[in-house]
Amino acid sequence: MIRSTLDPRWREPDQPEPASPGNFERMGGGRDRFHVAIIMDGNGRWAQERGRPRAAGHVAGAAAVRRTVESAPELGITTLTLYAFSSDNWRRPQDEVGHLMRLFQKHLDSECVRLTDSGVRLSVIGRRDRIPGSLQRRIAHVEERTSEGISLHLRVAIDYSARDALLAAAGRFAEGVPATRQAFERYLSQAIHAPGDTGDVDLLIRTGGERRLSDFLLWESAYAELFFTDVMWPDFSEADLASAVQDFTARDRRYGGLPRGPNGATELSLFEQRAAP
Ligand code: FPP
Repeated sequence: MIRSTLDPRWREPDQPEPASPGNFERMGGGRDRFHVAIIMDGNGRWAQERGRPRAAGHVAGAAAVRRTVESAPELGITTLTLYAFSSDNWRRPQDEVGHLMRLFQKHLDSECVRLTDSGVRLSVIGRRDRIPGSLQRRIAHVEERTSEGISLHLRVAIDYSARDALLAAAGRFAEGVPATRQAFERYLSQAIHAPGDTGDVDLLIRTGGERRLSDFLLWESAYAELFFTDVMWPDFSEADLASAVQDFTARDRRYGGLPRGPNGATELSLFEQRAAP
């Protein structure tokens, strides 16, 4: 078979080996902490393209969640944050919202043992007070059952808004700050430049062809590498995740510093070495 460059398996002899489960450590991509966040977009369009109801896209999306969680540790991912339901998603039709809430609960029920057995620790981020009580209880149960897991920290964002999370976090430390939300927002926007804690995202992936952040992990993604793909979330495969990781490992993260030279030294330190007596 003649392999063309359009064949995703094809690579020139001097190209690096693609990331895949098993070779990630060998590629030097291994690190103590590797946080990948995913905006799972495209469920509805995936279903519409097949003449099926949007709910079918969400069900297929849940299968993609399972595949992704299973393959993440093998790619060196230590924290995986999935955007399952934004605070803006309450604006969707009631039957779609209801279906999603039931799907989250069903998935938690069916995955609890699997997550525990595979050492995955589950946390849910976002507001808890507006989701159904039965889902709240299920989340608390699975969080407790999986709390000892160390192979992967899986964080699922439900009723999540990064702006609300920032306001809530700052509010806990802001005694005596103006009482109205508007006044507090003004206060926070001035105070936000202080260094924050690190739950920092290394790689932020968005599927479904859109290129925006949609109020997701705004603080934590300050230095995230962004990866956008046209693949609809239900089609997102282990190979797609491996490609995103591969792309990430090839990037030069400078955090506003200078490019790295040989042996990991920055150009400035090489210059300084040469200038030294
Ligand atoms: C965005 O696609 C997806 C969602 C709003 C829901 C995400 C939910 C899942 C992947 C299902 C299960 C999740 C878990 C954690 C078990 P969209 O509906 O906005 O797609 P569209 O842009 O094509 O309309």
